[in-house]
Amino acid sequence: MMHYHILTLFPEMVLSGLATSILGRAEKNGYITIEASNIRDFTEDKHRHVDDYPYGGGAGMVMQAEPIYKAYQSVEEKILTQGRKKPRVIYMTPQGKVFSQQDAKLFAKEEDLVFLCGHYEGVDERILEEIVTDTMSIGDYVLTGGELPAMVMIDAISRMVPGVLSNEASGEFESFHDNLLEYPQYTRPVEYHGKRVPDVLLSGHHANIERWRREQSIERTLKWRPDLLEDAILTPKEQQYLERLIEIENRIRE
Ligand code: ADE
Repeated sequence: MMHYHILTLFPEMVLSGLATSILGRAEKNGYITIEASNIRDFTEDKHRHVDDYPYGGGAGMVMQAEPIYKAYQSVEEKILTQGRKKPRVIYMTPQGKVFSQQDAKLFAKEEDLVFLCGHYEGVDERILEEIVTDTMSIGDYVLTGGELPAMVMIDAISRMVPGVLSNEASGEFESFHDNLLEYPQYTRPVEYHGKRVPDVLLSGHHANIERWRREQSIERTLKWRPDLLEDAILTPKEQQYLERLIEIENRIRE
């Protein structure tokens, strides 16, 4: 069971985005809970300000520490009251560590995860020093806020939480299995716009199908993500197959 807590200025955005499809079902079936706290609800002043000008000048606004601290405190108190331990707090920023499948697996072992979603030009450094345990990015591009990144992480982590993916196709068995890309998939009809499904898939020969799929995975990884091959898990025969592919590639280039 995983409890997600999102600290954000836009709770509707994350809650509606995560309420559908597999995550919606996972929540209904009790494998995960998702709650969002509106940081603005934890302001004291009558205009409910959550941001202010940066000390030292510069463009944009900076989110203030106090409302974030109060929002976090209320979440932490609830978690401790329910008898669980102090949660990890993940701050979403392009300056963070780039999120990977490996991180998703590790985060999925937690009971609670708090996501802090920043906006504007940034967040007062002092609240980050005070509550954040993990600083994460979802890639080298800049978004307008941390909400979409938090949703991306929650989706990827939830797939790795036991029970969330119902069929026996566990979250493991897909792209990045053995650090390879997934093989191509086909369904009916056998012929579509003049293109036939590869014969081997219709053969009923399971060993041949398995070998063909592994070879397709290796070919695709070499073509699109050769960087992954460094850590790919290959049998000696598959390693030979890969070396043959590379040889053929080199010959074409000469
Ligand atoms: N906030 C803005 N851009 C981001 C990114 N790429 N990853 C995480 N948080 C962000």
